[in-house]
Amino acid sequence: MNGTPAYDNAALQEAAKRNMWLHFTRHSSYQNADVPIIVRGEGQYVYDQHGKRYLDGLAGLFVSQIGHGRVEVAEAAARQASELAYFPLWSYAHPRAIELAERIANYAPGDLNRVFFTTSGSEAVESAWKLAKQYFKLTGQPNRYKVLSRAIAYHGTTHGALAITGLPDIKIPFEPLPAGGVRVPNTNFYRAPAFVADDVTAFGQWAADEIERAILREGPESVAAIYLEPVQNSGGCFPPPPGYFARVREICDQYGVLLVSDEVICAYGRLGYMFGCERYGYQPDVITFAKGVTSGYSPLGGMIVREHLMEPYWKDQTSFLHGVTFAGHPVSCAVALANLDVFEKEDLLGNVRANEGAFRATLEKLNDLPIVGDIRGDGYFYGIEMVKDKATRETFDDAESERLLRGFMSHALFDAGLICRADDRGDPVIQLSPPLTCTQEHFDEIEQILRSVLTEAWTRI
Ligand SMILES: Cc1ncc(COP(=O)(O)O)c(C=O)c1O
Repeated sequence: MNGTPAYDNAALQEAAKRNMWLHFTRHSSYQNADVPIIVRGEGQYVYDQHGKRYLDGLAGLFVSQIGHGRVEVAEAAARQASELAYFPLWSYAHPRAIELAERIANYAPGDLNRVFFTTSGSEAVESAWKLAKQYFKLTGQPNRYKVLSRAIAYHGTTHGALAITGLPDIKIPFEPLPAGGVRVPNTNFYRAPAFVADDVTAFGQWAADEIERAILREGPESVAAIYLEPVQNSGGCFPPPPGYFARVREICDQYGVLLVSDEVICAYGRLGYMFGCERYGYQPDVITFAKGVTSGYSPLGGMIVREHLMEPYWKDQTSFLHGVTFAGHPVSCAVALANLDVFEKEDLLGNVRANEGAFRATLEKLNDLPIVGDIRGDGYFYGIEMVKDKATRETFDDAESERLLRGFMSHALFDAGLICRADDRGDPVIQLSPPLTCTQEHFDEIEQILRSVLTEAWTRI
């Protein structure tokens, strides 16, 4: 079975259905169907319990930048577990966390020099909010606690991060959420308001000016931070219009609001740079990261903070009253260092920059299909929006979306050997975020599978 270990599928299925609770999953859909079980990974591919191969077009969950099965990264984990498996970062440090913090600070633009580790993206997002709130209390602006973020943006699922997330459906069951989340428009140019629909720069200006209007409406003295992804994932990859981030930076400076670049997806090469903000030329006050920092060989997240934001925390008896047990875990830090070594040895940023044009061009071949409305993204990060009518951009109603995405496409793509995401949290999109090692052969495989599944989907509307 091409190196795939043999498993007893019936036993695994029974145990999975009996004891597991999967995330964001309708368990009812597995009542009469097998749970997909991935047992092995190698390069850009993963294998299921039957030995069937899939192109990992989503890098797991926007995670596996260097691809699967890297023995040198696994060995770094084993070495570290033998040397020092665990010690907390509460009052102590350990060499791998120190080395990693230094390395990340050296990569990060400007004076983003201070690294606070977490174990996940949601924790990173929460940490940045808490940092901002305590920072403003320490510096005589105690009323600044609100946080702006964009419509349909996903920033995580813990209560604080969920308050920042802009997807109503995943918030409603958990309300009331912590107070202070405020929404501003996203940068989906395909769905731009009519008065700026013909001019992407004017659209970007409008979207950024809406941030200023929101700050003024809320009262500038109450706003702590704005969270923006370099390219917004949820909704299907919205890159920033030209001039957008320059205007946002100006607004943040004018009103004393911290700019948090949520790079849980966009950092570590996804857009061809260590950090997405570098690609679009803006300086954040905080970068939140997770996922690609270890390529998933072990969990790790964190935030990188500008030097001056730590200054008030240096004084007297003050400390940042926040921490989690496994943050900056030694094994995860060792893995992150080994992961970043692979980035450098194989020039993965160079690979993305050299091949992103080919990736885009290959996906754009799909524009001849009637169901393809918009193909957007940058780097190795794309969304394909599906429409019912290309000319009018009419989208699918809820029932059609349900039938098409959940009822057909998700299974059909998987059956055809492509892992990607058919997502209807905004308008229906397919999301792609393959390992950074991918080249033309993988782009072609993605295009061919999408072509056949999208063609069939059109006949089923
Ligand atoms: C932009 C962004 N922020 C935060 C998160 C939350 O990260 P995690 O799932 O590691 O908590 C995600 C997860 O996908 C994300 O995409």
